[in-house]
Amino acid sequence: VTDMTTNHGAEGEEPSRRDFIHIATGAVFGVGAAAVAWPFVDQWNPALDTRALASINVDLNTIPEGSVTKKLWRGKPIFIAHLPKSRVAELEATPMSDLKDPQTYTDRVKTEGGEAGNPQFLIMAANCTHLGCVPLADAGDFGTAGGYLCPCHGSHYDAAGRIRKGPAPLNLPVIPHTYTTATTVKIG
Ligand code: FES
Repeated sequence: VTDMTTNHGAEGEEPSRRDFIHIATGAVFGVGAAAVAWPFVDQWNPALDTRALASINVDLNTIPEGSVTKKLWRGKPIFIAHLPKSRVAELEATPMSDLKDPQTYTDRVKTEGGEAGNPQFLIMAANCTHLGCVPLADAGDFGTAGGYLCPCHGSHYDAAGRIRKGPAPLNLPVIPHTYTTATTVKIG
């Protein structure tokens, strides 16, 4: 009867000392390779905090009327502005001919599904559309009306985040959002 379970060394022998050294070396190398590979593989995964913040829920009651709050969403800053109704009326009345990147105020407060959102809350990217600096809120030529100024090269946005003056070509992008209650918004 042939013993089919032994395949190291000469027929019928246990693994030799040399076989053992090869096996042990292979095992150590395997562990070493895995340890070296891990940091590279890890870099391909999104950062843990980025994954955790794929979408965020914001209680709009925490943002006082007339103020702008900054939050991090997917690792980037966003503005959430709570405008008084009187300011909303002014922004709705802005002639399209005054705008470099014409967009109605109503379009800037729509939800991701295209429904009308709460017109008193604007949710938009906080990176200038010129080269990406973060503009200052309540500053610039439209600052008294709650506008934004990008100090990097002097881009002025109105309180709706629409570009009005300077090198930036486009409005601050509206971030996709949906309302989960009348005062809670899910961003992203
Ligand atoms: S990055 Fe804002 S004006 Fe240049």
